Amino acid sequence: MSSFPTAGNGKVTVPGILQRKSGVTPENSSPAKITCLTAYDYPTARLLDEAGVDILLVGDSLAMVVLGYESTLPVTLEEMLHHARAVRRGTRHALLVADMPYGSYHDDPMEAVRHAVRFVKEAGAEAVKIEGGERRMDLIARLVEAEIPVMGHIGLTPQSVNTFGGFRVQGRTEEAGEKLLRDARAVEAAGAFSIVLESIPRELAAKITAELRIPTIGIGAGPDCDGQVLVINDLLGLTFGHQPKFARRYADIGQIISNAAAEYIRDVQKGNFPADEESYHLPAELRGAAVTRRR
Ligand code: KIV
Repeated sequence: MSSFPTAGNGKVTVPGILQRKSGVTPENSSPAKITCLTAYDYPTARLLDEAGVDILLVGDSLAMVVLGYESTLPVTLEEMLHHARAVRRGTRHALLVADMPYGSYHDDPMEAVRHAVRFVKEAGAEAVKIEGGERRMDLIARLVEAEIPVMGHIGLTPQSVNTFGGFRVQGRTEEAGEKLLRDARAVEAAGAFSIVLESIPRELAAKITAELRIPTIGIGAGPDCDGQVLVINDLLGLTFGHQPKFARRYADIGQIISNAAAEYIRDVQKGNFPADEESYHLPAELRGAAVTRRR
């Protein structure tokens, strides 16, 4: 599998995603909605890519759904790079976007650019995602200037969990809605090619989507966005505890894993695994003498 896929042959690109904005096609028709899923490892990336998803996001949700942290804050740049490289190896068709983790872009802007460059050079990311609106304008512009496409992210930005006092729906008052509209405009004006809207009222997401020229990708933001993103572990039933209402479960892989493990344990304990057909054998002429069985 190539590490750095080139455009063509159905490869999803940043300009291709921009073209998917509702109403921008010459005939003003509605293009198919953009599909985005998170991925954190090679086999999942490969399966999702082969299923035809448009964007694979190495989300910093990695911290919670794979590494077992309570929030996204602890995950490090090195951990994100490690997982992004694995996802790259499984991705051929989808656009690969990597989340910049908390602390990797909050201080010196030049350092933030260097960190984003690492995602491109070392992990083959084609874009990075950063959280925040108006206050990220300068940084988004710098990244774009450095030839790094940026996906914005506003609303319930999980890296702001301490500021918000928990994972809460955002933009529910008129004032908060106005602020999010300004944030969305700022992200677009700074040069982002798309924006994630997370956990905001459907009506507000529809308004932002209608106003922006870049595609909106919703998660808990209703059906009127230009695309949707879900955390793959939520979709597959591979999470523990509270599930937000927007996280539709398409499979119960957690139950499948539990059942398979329980069956394996039973089989080993009863001596039903491995069977003779699952064992290697000496050549026939050497067998009788060599095989001893401890009792
Ligand atoms: O980290 C993540 O998985 C995300 C998506 C929920 C958009 O940011």
